Amino acid sequence: MRSAFFLCASALLAPVLAQTWTTCNPLNSTCPNDPALGMNYTFHLNESSTVTTSFNVTAGTISYGDEGAEFTINKQGDSPTIQSQFYIFFGSVSVIMKAATGQGVISSIVLESDDLDEVDWEFMGGNATHAETNYFGKGNTTAYDRAIYYPVDTDLRENFHNYSVVWTAEKLEWLIDSNVVRTLTYADANGETYDDYPQTPMTLRLGIWAGGDPSLPNGTIEWAGGLTDFTKGPYTMYVESAEVNDYSTGSAYEWTDKTGDWQSIKVIAGNSTAAEAIIKAETPTLSTAQKFAALPQTTKLAVYAGSGAAGALLLGAFLFMCCRQRRAGRLEREAYNAKVEKERQDAYNEQMELREKGLGGWNNGEVAHQGEDALGGWGGTHARSTDEMPVSKLPNHYVDELRPSDSVSSYSGGYGNSSTVPRSPSFPLPQAGHGAMNGGYQRF
Ligand SMILES: *[C@@H]1O[C@H](CO)[C@@H](O)[C@H](O)[C@H]1NC(C)=O
Ligand SMILES: *[C@@H]1O[C@H](CO)[C@@H](O)[C@H](O)[C@H]1NC(C)=O
Ligand SMILES: *[C@@H]1O[C@H](CO)[C@@H](O)[C@H](O)[C@H]1NC(C)=O
Ligand SMILES: *[C@@H]1O[C@H](CO)[C@@H](O)[C@H](O)[C@H]1NC(C)=O
Ligand SMILES: *[C@@H]1O[C@H](CO)[C@@H](O)[C@H](O)[C@H]1NC(C)=O
Ligand SMILES: *[C@@H]1O[C@H](CO)[C@@H](O)[C@H](O)[C@H]1NC(C)=O
Ligand SMILES: *[C@@H]1O[C@H](CO)[C@@H](O)[C@H](O)[C@H]1NC(C)=O
Ligand SMILES: *[C@@H]1O[C@H](CO)[C@@H](O)[C@H](O)[C@H]1NC(C)=O
Ligand SMILES: *[C@@H]1O[C@H](CO)[C@@H](O)[C@H](O)[C@H]1NC(C)=O
Repeated sequence: MRSAFFLCASALLAPVLAQTWTTCNPLNSTCPNDPALGMNYTFHLNESSTVTTSFNVTAGTISYGDEGAEFTINKQGDSPTIQSQFYIFFGSVSVIMKAATGQGVISSIVLESDDLDEVDWEFMGGNATHAETNYFGKGNTTAYDRAIYYPVDTDLRENFHNYSVVWTAEKLEWLIDSNVVRTLTYADANGETYDDYPQTPMTLRLGIWAGGDPSLPNGTIEWAGGLTDFTKGPYTMYVESAEVNDYSTGSAYEWTDKTGDWQSIKVIAGNSTAAEAIIKAETPTLSTAQKFAALPQTTKLAVYAGSGAAGALLLGAFLFMCCRQRRAGRLEREAYNAKVEKERQDAYNEQMELREKGLGGWNNGEVAHQGEDALGGWGGTHARSTDEMPVSKLPNHYVDELRPSDSVSSYSGGYGNSSTVPRSPSFPLPQAGHGAMNGGYQRF
């Protein structure tokens, strides 16, 4: 990122370069510990909640759409940027993104540490074919020769590509779509005269800015590929996801001295609050299908059997009959009744939810409006005149109610005419000569 600035004063950096700054530099201050990610995680950046759980929006605003997080320059001065709340201490990052168009517009993926170690991917909006890689150590921006450009096989502004950095104490690798394009060893960067290998805990920063802003120095504008025409915008960078693997596991990274050497960083054991926040945010509000899968088998059967509470009651009575001989005494029977009642209630509650979602049911007498994803049934109406045979979504139950031999003109819903599945009286077996059959429990 700072490759552009070898010609200009560092005072210019802060307002423009949303990505390359530090609030506390451990080389000359005592700074708080860096919160660790301490896990591997893929952030799908298509929802604001994913971003706000783990990133700070440090400039501008981010929008979300079908192609992920949108970082847009609408006018001069815009530079929407996010920064991870967590740090990784060696690790890998893979960002699936599509760079913005626009001369002088820079889309970027930056790893940045508190003492300004930096690893970059940069994309010039005027250049469809090449991506820039770069790095800095301890904020040393005097290097002229570190930016190296690599070809990307399709227009990087029209296509999503996978840009990775794999970072260990020994070497840094940049990859495009899983092909290593550049390798920098520790020794390469730490020669006799300087000591610039990026080696301290990093945040991930993603953002866009206009290096072609006319208010910037010529050197910057030239590097960016020319002046940006803000009237031709908006210019948008799209980020689908970011896979972040922290090679350390712990709660935080502590700077034990002011050397900025990786050996001086202490990994503090414990649970990462960043990881806990992610897991908490992820804890699924279970999908209906998952809830259904988690139901006890007897409840599932009741649901399959249809007729809601009636089916469950029937099942309960059936089980009660089966077990009665082996159960003696009033107390046991009451306990058993309570169990059946609870199961009935659970089944009813589950069915209420399934029905609200249009699952598993159909509308008795209104064949046109069936559940689209019927569990144990199927959506839609199947006329006998068509060759279409409904497919049961209930495993192991062949749907054979619609048989040519039956003179049933159309049939809606069902779970197969298995005699082993308890079924409610409202879901009779198909009968020849019946004009139209609707079965199962009714949808609301
Ligand atoms: C601390 O170091 C940074 C980077 O080298 C420098 O920009 C800043 O001025 C220093 N601050 C102090 C108080 O020395
Ligand atoms: C994270 O991924 C790396 C490989 O990228 C693997 O070596 C490491 O074991 C993983 N860590 C965890 C906690 O799964
Ligand atoms: C975001 O992406 C995840 C993973 O692909 C997906 O499960 C989720 O439904 C998506 N969210 C939105 C709002 O599209
Ligand atoms: C993110 O923002 C919070 C609240 O402003 C701040 O405390 C925290 O230090 C920020 N994280 C980073 C990594 O800058
Ligand atoms: C894109 O960048 C590469 C590498 O710097 C350069 O060779 C090429 O000419 C550039 N293309 C355009 C259209 O500027
Ligand atoms: C991106 O590339 C990395 C490195 O090869 C790979 O581990 C990762 O699976 C890729 N991501 C996707 C989504 O293909
Ligand atoms: C900064 O980088 C330049 C160019 O690579 C190098 O000559 C110089 O020694 C470095 N400075 C420090 C303090 O490491
Ligand atoms: C920038 O370059 C243009 C022409 O290339 C020149 O006219 C102008 O004076 C330069 N500006 C600065 C600040 O150097
Ligand atoms: C870390 O989390 C686990 C599981 O949530 C918990 O059992 C353990 O006590 C926690 N450890 C610390 C040091 O807080």
